[in-house]
Amino acid sequence: MTEPILQVDPETFAAYFDRKPFHVRHTLGSHPLFELPRLMELARTLPSPFVEYNAGNLSIGMRPGETPRTGLSAEETVRRISECGSWMVLKRVEQDPAYGALLDRCLDEIARQGGPLVPKMLRREGFIFLSSPGATTPFHLDPEHNFLLQVRGSKTVSMWDRDDRFVLAEKELETFYSAFVDRNLPWRDVFQTTAWSAGLSPGQGLHFPVAVPHWVKNGPEVSISFSITFRSEDSERRAVLFKANAKLRKLGLTPTPPGESVLLDSTKHAAFAALARLRGLLGVGK
Ligand SMILES: [Fe+2]
Repeated sequence: MTEPILQVDPETFAAYFDRKPFHVRHTLGSHPLFELPRLMELARTLPSPFVEYNAGNLSIGMRPGETPRTGLSAEETVRRISECGSWMVLKRVEQDPAYGALLDRCLDEIARQGGPLVPKMLRREGFIFLSSPGATTPFHLDPEHNFLLQVRGSKTVSMWDRDDRFVLAEKELETFYSAFVDRNLPWRDVFQTTAWSAGLSPGQGLHFPVAVPHWVKNGPEVSISFSITFRSEDSERRAVLFKANAKLRKLGLTPTPPGESVLLDSTKHAAFAALARLRGLLGVGK
């Protein structure tokens, strides 16, 4: 039998999945799909909207539209990643069948090992992050259930509870889900005093609950990590509720945050899901 790539402790999974960060182990360090020539090929062949890269010496609180470019091509960025001062993400890498098979294999292993609390995995998506020594990923949030598998180099991740409304205002969540421009969030230095800080070395992976605010600092070497993500019925439902609340707030109302009233949540969800379906049927823009 083939050895599993991932090692997930079912008790830790049951205690913390989608609530707090926790580590898993993996053996992707020597995998040929993460060697630079293969990643250069991937950067060249992925459609351009799925290749994003910029200078890596960013501040934690970078705002939309401020991110500086490097002037290099995507392929050149991968080739020169050790010295070009860059941050890069190759998105939806499952479009390449070899990476798609690896993503499926890793997520299937999580589903097998994680125990009965693993939700049905919807919209499986894989992302590969490459960053130069010392690069920073600014403060932001993501909509997926995520396991970030560190393949090469090291990182330190600062993360907060998604229910901490001082660090992540309700309005920011609504804007993120309803009027997405950029993942970056408003930053204040005082936030750092309450961060959960987790190191990541090769062979380790870190679980990110859905929509937890976080920022990442690279260690002194090139970093390569593989982010294996999926959505669930719960994450999709929360997304609809935040979108609904954004619309209600636009109408001058003060909406009840998701999770405070089961009845209101289910009424809102049913109404907005039906409205979205109707708009889809009628071909009306958002
Ligand atoms: Fe992220």
